[in-house]
Amino acid sequence: MQQDMIVILDLGSKENTRIAREIRDLGVYTEIHPHDITKEQLAALPNVKGIVLNGGPNRIVDGAAIDASEAVYGAGVPLMAVDHKARKADVALDAWPEDEAEHQIALKRFVFDACHATANWTMDNFIADQIELIKKQVGDKKVLLALSGGVDSSVVAALLIRAIGDQLTCVHVNHGLLRKGEPEQVVEVFRNQLGANLIYVDAVDRFLNKLEGVADPEQKRKIIGAEFIRVFEEEARKLNGIEFLGQGTIYPDIVESGTKTAKMVKSHHNVGGLPEDLQFELVEPLKMLFKDEVRACGVALGLPDSMVYRQPFPGPGLGVRCLGAITRDRLEALREADAILRDEFDKAGLRGKVWQYFTVIPDFRSTGVRDNARCFEWPVILRAVNTVDAMTATVEQVPWPVLLKITDRILAEVKGVNRVLYDLSPKPVATIEWE
Ligand code: XMP
Repeated sequence: MQQDMIVILDLGSKENTRIAREIRDLGVYTEIHPHDITKEQLAALPNVKGIVLNGGPNRIVDGAAIDASEAVYGAGVPLMAVDHKARKADVALDAWPEDEAEHQIALKRFVFDACHATANWTMDNFIADQIELIKKQVGDKKVLLALSGGVDSSVVAALLIRAIGDQLTCVHVNHGLLRKGEPEQVVEVFRNQLGANLIYVDAVDRFLNKLEGVADPEQKRKIIGAEFIRVFEEEARKLNGIEFLGQGTIYPDIVESGTKTAKMVKSHHNVGGLPEDLQFELVEPLKMLFKDEVRACGVALGLPDSMVYRQPFPGPGLGVRCLGAITRDRLEALREADAILRDEFDKAGLRGKVWQYFTVIPDFRSTGVRDNARCFEWPVILRAVNTVDAMTATVEQVPWPVLLKITDRILAEVKGVNRVLYDLSPKPVATIEWE
């Protein structure tokens, strides 16, 4: 590890992530650790230049106010206490300054003037470190990776290819619920451009047959999730001598899985419930990165922007946007309409500006006229939302001409669709997805 590090000690603040992010933006690496970190754990962290004792409203645990562990006071590096009655601290603040400029000054003073940290947190350094660590962990053994084509798994794949090349096998399962062009892009980028060992599994019929007649959203999710594991497991069993499993775990997955002072936000099951008799050691090279750093890493590794700056896409994919029991004709119409929406958002410069946008196809039809005759066809619903954490969301005010252009194209180009609607509902009361 070549980078200097500032440790954020969680003493009940709700802002650990924000502070960690801000210090990284100054070019200095940070990690968030629990208040009772042991001497050994602290000593194992490389290049610690200072520790922020980050206090706040969650300071009471099991009825008693918490303090930093003895290890921290004896660490011999500058300490900064914020909203925390520390036994000793080189810098003490009642709270983080609300004024943005003052806040920046406080951070910089501590990081650079008190701790003398060097701003050497760069993607090139990170990649060089990780390649070394991956090689050390894996040796000459083999690694398996489920490559969905999402940002995280794509960046892990690119990093592992750089580090261990042929020792990596990627499995891309096409479950038939991906967006137009996605499986093709995964094959083109990873097999043809990066020379990866890529197993492409066409499981479209298998998934759609399993889903036939299933209308309940949660049931659909369960079937898709379970079938995915089954297909992946079958592929894994065909390969010999795999000891490691690559995972696209990122830092928010770890931080959000709960700290000792905050309630668990949500649990993350990245391993996706693989069977117990398939035992792998995990390789998780992105586990200390925030999402935007994952993207920067992908860019530095040469992945195309369209892969790295992708909007979030749910695991069950188009399966939860083809409402009710999925049928192949509606699924195809949905996929075409989604491709048109994305194309027009690109042309209007909205990619990367709107958090998530997609189409939905309901399972009812309405009357229209086509070529002077009555037609009875599906509607398509457009949705475009902005959010910070997906817990609440607002509707994007898409320019009217863009909406009209999308509508014209869908009505002209997508078979079986005679109506286009725009969903104006914020979350809450609506959710982002329709199912
Ligand atoms: P909702 O619909 O709950 O969506 O407002 C919030 C965010 O989560 C995504 N989402 C999912 N992601 N598996 C996923 O991996 C799922 O089953 C799932 N359901 C919703 C959704 O796209 C949005 O970004």
